[in-house]
Amino acid sequence: MNHRRIFIAQVSALLVVGPACVLAEETGPLVRVYKSPTCNCCKKWIRHLQDAGFRVEATDVSDIGAYKIEYGVPRALGSCHTAIVDGYVVEGHVPADNVIKMLRQKPEIIGIAAPGMPMGSPGMEGPNAEAYDVIAFDADGKTSVFDTHTP
Ligand code: CU
Ligand code: CU
Repeated sequence: MNHRRIFIAQVSALLVVGPACVLAEETGPLVRVYKSPTCNCCKKWIRHLQDAGFRVEATDVSDIGAYKIEYGVPRALGSCHTAIVDGYVVEGHVPADNVIKMLRQKPEIIGIAAPGMPMGSPGMEGPNAEAYDVIAFDADGKTSVFDTHTP
């Protein structure tokens, strides 16, 4: 197969799989995830981000708490994994839609968090889904509700 044929084959493959997959492989923002090696819900959250078109680079770390301190995550908002995307922090099981909204709006905050491990959040699917808030936090330690999710 010459180069031209390969190119055409790739283009038609892209057309078949649609824009979400193109994003996933080519252009989605890179999310760096720091997580503990044993946590399964982190892996499911990563898959949720990839499905939404993000590229993900995951690193297993033994002291996840150190990353929360380094990146300015308030103690009360902590969860199981800490991620960095476009200079923003994403703590815990935040839905991809909220990450996309933050990256579009570029608010003056450090990042957003889904504190704890809310049942029903992406990566925490299960029978007992609960309502939970995604909280924005800034450099002054101020927090506000960024979004509310109900089952
Ligand atoms: Cu988790
Ligand atoms: Cu996690």
